[in-house]
Amino acid sequence: MSISFTALANESIRHLAPYQPGKPISEVQRELGIKDVIKLASNENPLGASPKALAAIKNQINELALYPDASGHDLKQAIAKLWQIQPDQITLGAGSEALFVLIGQAFVKPGQDVIISQYGFATFTIATRIFQGNVVTVPAKEWGHDLEATLKAVTPNTRLIFLANPNNPTAAWHDHDTLVKFFERLPSDIIVVLDEAYAEFMTDEKNYPDSKKLLSQYPNIIITRTFSKLHGLAGLRIGYAISHPEAADMLNRVKLPFNVASTAMVAAIAALDDHDHIEATLNLNREGMQYYKEELTKMHIAFLPPAGNFMTIDVARDCGAVYQSLLREGVIVRPLTGYGLPTFLRVSIGTMTENQRFIQSLRKVL
Ligand SMILES: Cc1ncc(COP(=O)(O)O)c(C=O)c1O
Repeated sequence: MSISFTALANESIRHLAPYQPGKPISEVQRELGIKDVIKLASNENPLGASPKALAAIKNQINELALYPDASGHDLKQAIAKLWQIQPDQITLGAGSEALFVLIGQAFVKPGQDVIISQYGFATFTIATRIFQGNVVTVPAKEWGHDLEATLKAVTPNTRLIFLANPNNPTAAWHDHDTLVKFFERLPSDIIVVLDEAYAEFMTDEKNYPDSKKLLSQYPNIIITRTFSKLHGLAGLRIGYAISHPEAADMLNRVKLPFNVASTAMVAAIAALDDHDHIEATLNLNREGMQYYKEELTKMHIAFLPPAGNFMTIDVARDCGAVYQSLLREGVIVRPLTGYGLPTFLRVSIGTMTENQRFIQSLRKVL
């Protein structure tokens, strides 16, 4: 080959490690010849998609030849109603990961600093580096985003901070008052992406931040939410950002006109209204988390204080080997070596049958 695409690629992309997603079920079935495989690797909804969303997609099928509404009017109305905000504060994206990229595209100039926590969600690095932003990694404190160290890392070159609350994969999170104290001290022209992918699972936590209130006090915040977790629509790719209208205006200028599928938008509207599915998901998650905590404690396996819909556990040995053994049992989880946690696995909370299967398999392989 007389052309080197690697040499031609932007410097910042050449050295970028590709994101390692959870292994798909079909791949494990193909590679290991096992039929009965369960996936607890990507924090998906074990109950599947909201039934109301499925019905809405069926109704939308006849419209598939038409482009979607580029303004996302109906979904923005539904989100605006839910949050009691104005539709011009909303930006839609194909999942929150696509919103991180839009934010990078709109706001990060080559060479500017973007602060990410040590165990911060991997996509933050990608969304920074593709725009030639400079990733500044702040060492974690108690597995979470060290806000004090972040304030110290801020310089005139800092453009943006990615803060997942709770964080994936460590589940660490900050409460409302802690974030207020942080924003009080942070220069007001630094954008903070408050990634709330798991916020809906935090309803039992009294001090979980009221991010709408934070945004009203600190307009430099961009909140991101997803339909991939609570609503079970990860395969459709749909999420949204809430911000000051001027930030949303900038984001909507860089978004491609038809960045969100019509099926995704109708499904999202229906899912917001599917209170039975939401309640069933939260109840199952509570039950599963309690079960994991009890079983792991009985097995003397350490785990990080959980939040969201997953558990991060320390198997106290090479997690890659444990991961491979679990695959042979037909159980897909996520090894965290890539995050610099070589003895940790992340396991999603599934149905109770799936949770039991994971625990039995873990017991067997350990
Ligand atoms: C913390 C965090 N943020 C964002 C995402 C991306 O979600 P989406 O499916 O909306 O792109 C995930 C997905 O696992 C996540 O864990």
